[in-house]
Amino acid sequence: MDVFRLTGPSQLRGVVDIRGAKNSVLKLMAASLLAVGRTTISNVPAILDVRIMVELLVRLGCSVDYDAEAGVVSIDVPELVGIQADYELVRAMRASISVLGPLTARMRSAHVALPGGDAIGSRGLDMHQAGLEALGATVHLDHGYFVAEAPEGLQGTEISLQFPSVGATENLVMAATLAHGVTTISNAAKEPEIVDICSMLVEMGARIDGIGTPDITVTGVSELRPVDHRTVGDRIVAGTYAFGAALSGGDVTVRGVGLDLMPNIAIKLRDAGATVDPLDGIELGDGTLGAGFRVRGADRPKAIRVATMPFPGFPTDLQPFVIALNSVAEGTGLLSENLFEARWRFVQEIARLGAKVRIDGNHALISGVEGLSGAEVEASDIRAGAGLVMAGLRAVGITEVSGIDHIERGYENFVTNLRSLGADIERVEKRDILTFE
Ligand code: EPU
Repeated sequence: MDVFRLTGPSQLRGVVDIRGAKNSVLKLMAASLLAVGRTTISNVPAILDVRIMVELLVRLGCSVDYDAEAGVVSIDVPELVGIQADYELVRAMRASISVLGPLTARMRSAHVALPGGDAIGSRGLDMHQAGLEALGATVHLDHGYFVAEAPEGLQGTEISLQFPSVGATENLVMAATLAHGVTTISNAAKEPEIVDICSMLVEMGARIDGIGTPDITVTGVSELRPVDHRTVGDRIVAGTYAFGAALSGGDVTVRGVGLDLMPNIAIKLRDAGATVDPLDGIELGDGTLGAGFRVRGADRPKAIRVATMPFPGFPTDLQPFVIALNSVAEGTGLLSENLFEARWRFVQEIARLGAKVRIDGNHALISGVEGLSGAEVEASDIRAGAGLVMAGLRAVGITEVSGIDHIERGYENFVTNLRSLGADIERVEKRDILTFE
């Protein structure tokens, strides 16, 4: 069992390159199933979740070339693909459910294991189910599998989502691209990753209007063609380093994601006393031109009040970093979580570093302290894990974060990047007392 061992305090200073968004690329890979032939996706981060999606596509019968260093994945999709996403894979990565829409649309049948409980709430599939049923599929549960069948193909329809669910919007848009007739989706999600997926679908020949708005219209076509597509930058990874700079009093230039993808994040960083400057038309790590920004943190951040909301609101995935920043800030901060009901396991862990957080329903009230003290803590999900590492930057002494496989699901080169930004962090092996020889 490996852990991340961090010796603090330290400040983040330097430049970090960010590649494509995990929450986009996994769905772009699923969308490739909609077209026979070779789809190539670039700006792919080298993370565990991409490997899991590669494995899923291979098991569905695709041949996949994945060059992690170059950040390129090429997927050869055959005429006939499998229809089953195994429990083993869905349990390892919930985003596996994004093959549901493409398989139902193209193969007219999908058997996708129900994801088990995630550490961040129940995360139902009711909107995915209701949407597919509205499109004419029959849906039932069979031995733990979500089974969708549409032997005659899907039929365009009107869908109104109760909540702008990211996953349901993506699955239903992908399904509707090959349906007969017109589908309208109202109260759709507007996240940059949704825009990226819709853009790739349009490049593939899909007819989609209202991309990036709550009202999406998809006019079905009979087939799509494979394409080459570059993944949008990861605004959550960018936000992670930005908060790391702000809470540690550092100075970090983030390349590969522009502030236009992070409107509310920049506002909150400035509220915390950081200086945030956009950098446009800069050379990125791979030599292409793109956007970025620079964050210079105050010596001690000021407490901020944040409510998580669907895009363009403040993203739920950055809430651990808000709590971490408020933990060492001047004053009392507030974080209201409006998307997931059980994202508080992080709070028990950061309390081990000396943070003072009180939970009341979906609100966390955080009283800033002068400094944290290093301790052993455990990551319960990707963002919680990265949040504990960032909090460790402000903790005196050694912070050891276990459960790092969660972090590696979503952050490429995390230790290497943090070391190049000046953090004293290493990955070390630790014997698990439950492992007997
Ligand atoms: N929901 C339902 N029924 C549904 C669908 C969603 O009740 O049919 C509820 C969920 O239980 C949850 C809320 O709606 O409370 C939001 O769910 P949503 O569908 O929007 O999220 P998701 O697609 O499951 C994606 C990201 C998450 C990110 C959320 C919100 C991926 C793979 N995951 O999840 O990212 O937090 O959108 O922005 O795209 C992460 O990267 O660490 C992560 C958890």
